[in-house]
Amino acid sequence: MSLESSIALLRHLTVLTLVALVPSSAALSFIYNGFQHAADLSLDGSASILRGGALQLTNDSNNLMGHAFFAAPVPMLVNKAVISFSTAFVFDIVTVGRSGGHGLAFVVAASKVLPGASDEQYLGLLGKGNLGNSSNHVFAVELDTVQANGLLNETNANHVGVDLNSLVSNVSEPAAYFTDDDGRSVSVPLGSAQPIQAWVDYDGSAKVLNVTIAPASLQTRPRRPLISQVIDLSPIFKEDMYVGFSAATGKLASSHYVLAWSFRTDGVAQAIDLSRLPKVPKAPAPPPSTSTIIKIVALSCAATLVMVVAAIGAAFWLRRRAALAETLEEWELDHPHRLPYKELYKATKGFKNSELLGAGGFGQVYRGVLRRSGNTVAIRRISSNGSQGMREFVAEVASLGRMRHRNLVELRGWCKHGQDLLLVYDFMPNGSLEAHLFGSAGAGAGVGVSPSPALLTWEQRLRILRGVASGLVYLHEGWEQVVVHRDVKASNVLLGADMSARLGDFGLARLYEHGAEPATTRVVGTLGYMAPELTVTGKATTASDVFGFGGLLLEVASGRRPIDPITGVNLVRWVRDHGVKGDLVRAVDERLDGWYDKEEVRLVLWLGLACSQWRPEARPSMRQVCQYLNGEEEMQEDAVLVFSDVDSIDFGSLTSLTWSSSCQSCATMSAGSLRRGR
Ligand SMILES: *[C@@H]1O[C@H](CO)[C@@H](O)[C@H](O)[C@H]1NC(C)=O
Ligand SMILES: *[C@@H]1O[C@H](CO)[C@@H](O)[C@H](O)[C@H]1NC(C)=O
Ligand SMILES: *[C@@H]1O[C@H](CO)[C@@H](O)[C@H](O)[C@H]1NC(C)=O
Ligand SMILES: *[C@@H]1O[C@H](CO)[C@@H](O)[C@H](O)[C@H]1NC(C)=O
Ligand SMILES: *[C@@H]1O[C@H](CO)[C@@H](O)[C@H](O)[C@H]1NC(C)=O
Repeated sequence: MSLESSIALLRHLTVLTLVALVPSSAALSFIYNGFQHAADLSLDGSASILRGGALQLTNDSNNLMGHAFFAAPVPMLVNKAVISFSTAFVFDIVTVGRSGGHGLAFVVAASKVLPGASDEQYLGLLGKGNLGNSSNHVFAVELDTVQANGLLNETNANHVGVDLNSLVSNVSEPAAYFTDDDGRSVSVPLGSAQPIQAWVDYDGSAKVLNVTIAPASLQTRPRRPLISQVIDLSPIFKEDMYVGFSAATGKLASSHYVLAWSFRTDGVAQAIDLSRLPKVPKAPAPPPSTSTIIKIVALSCAATLVMVVAAIGAAFWLRRRAALAETLEEWELDHPHRLPYKELYKATKGFKNSELLGAGGFGQVYRGVLRRSGNTVAIRRISSNGSQGMREFVAEVASLGRMRHRNLVELRGWCKHGQDLLLVYDFMPNGSLEAHLFGSAGAGAGVGVSPSPALLTWEQRLRILRGVASGLVYLHEGWEQVVVHRDVKASNVLLGADMSARLGDFGLARLYEHGAEPATTRVVGTLGYMAPELTVTGKATTASDVFGFGGLLLEVASGRRPIDPITGVNLVRWVRDHGVKGDLVRAVDERLDGWYDKEEVRLVLWLGLACSQWRPEARPSMRQVCQYLNGEEEMQEDAVLVFSDVDSIDFGSLTSLTWSSSCQSCATMSAGSLRRGR
């Protein structure tokens, strides 16, 4: 018995039981798990059954319509009451290219030939001329992938709608399903070339229509329907209706497939066996368009560019890393206070000119901020050649780094980088003494800043001198080794925030054991501060530091440079001349304008002369100088100041000076005579 005849029998039975008014007796049920042998379908238009078993309503050509109806009419209305029905189907919309169209619909219609059906947005259901005409008798659930241009009041380009005699949906929702666990709405792209299952259920007595969709991959039916709407289908339905599918393409096109279909009246449709779904033909890869080729070319150009930029970046990075890399020699590890070059490089912003505090014979001084501590430091960069010298130098510097005295600039650390030696000191906010005395940093490499500083008062000057003297006593006597600074001068005296003095720049310092003979070294120092015996013996001693300090004493008290840069006048000789004339205090800095203690000024000038004596053994020690300055020792009446015949010396070419036994003719002068000269 064929299906059609069985339905005919059913109809007959229904007619027979009409009196009982039991529509359920008209129950009809069928299921297609694939359409391989679907003899009971009537197809029209572009619809066909593919060899694999899929029902194809349209291919992706333009302006097609395709219909597939269950061939036999289905009794839907009994005694003006709509029979409940239930259907489930799996569809697949495959789009080639970017946008497809227009969608498909489950349809229940009074005729297999739909009145005035049109393609494009009408989905092959109806046409422009009969939208909303009550004589249409068309009910559809549309699965629409295109939003018609405002014509049909559609929610969006991916929606599910319920159509009653019209394509202006009675109710419409964006395609989605609600999850069972948390009721979340999950969007379902209808044209995604994935099998999607849809369920349409109508309760004839409650007049409730439910529509549910879900990706077939979900395997189950979501409990909550996407659409649940009270709809009276009785004006739409006739006693015999045809159920099936309709699809259309327009200027936009997709292939529309139905893969499986289950239908039942007066009960729940049988579940579809998802494991038996036919495959849809794979959409052929679209030929690359010109714009795609341009895109590919542009992309590969961009990729090449990115790679080139990355390579250049990497090269720069490697070069910079190599530049910042530490090339440690073994001995360097033995010395503490070593700082990584990278840290100093970053602290000075790469030794930027804007961070330069000063430059001189011994390299440049930069201001820097150490990342680790946040401390502002002064970084002196000394370029040298010769690894051996550097090694000794570092050894000395490193041991000097352990010295701590309130009147010595603290060496925070050091670093050797190639031929450069970097010394890191505390940053002294008030700059150098020289800047305060003479208004500019001059050629000295002062570790500090020097905007036009205020004139130093006498009290400040005396305090500075006492500080420097105290620092030198520590260097000469207070440290485990004798340290000869070798470059005591105003530009190496730095001033802290409270104008306290710190002796800095140990770049020339020499160390030797207490009681040992100092080694002969290259004659270094600053003209005007350099002890005369140095050029002969080549030995830097504590006495030569005292000579330098003598110059500093005279300089600070008189406000004049050791050798006047314009007149060439020698300060020692100039002060001595005042002393000889019995008017030592007249040598005081005129800018002090009388604001000083005469006795203190005389003491400082007298000490300055005493320290500037040519015979080293005649000079007082730094300890004695300190005691005089602090008033712990009285100026002795019979203290003898010995001067060389300074007139015979060419201070302008001190390096070529050959100091002879002219010291024998040194003039002698007693402190007494100084006093008498007042
Ligand atoms: C698409 O379907 C139409 C109508 O059935 C047919 O004429 C056409 O050849 C098909 N095109 C392709 C590419 O299969
Ligand atoms: C509705 O369709 C019928 C049949 O095609 C037609 O006779 C009638 O004029 C239409 N009514 C309207 C309002 O368009
Ligand atoms: C479109 O929808 C709005 C709101 O849902 C409704 O007010 C309007 O009448 C509808 N238009 C048509 C042509 O159905
Ligand atoms: C429609 O959905 C509602 C809500 O989930 C449910 O209560 C009702 O039983 C459903 N009706 C049919 C015919 O599936
Ligand atoms: C939907 O259909 C019902 C009848 O079933 C009708 O009362 C209602 O106005 C319709 N709504 C729209 C928006 O067409």
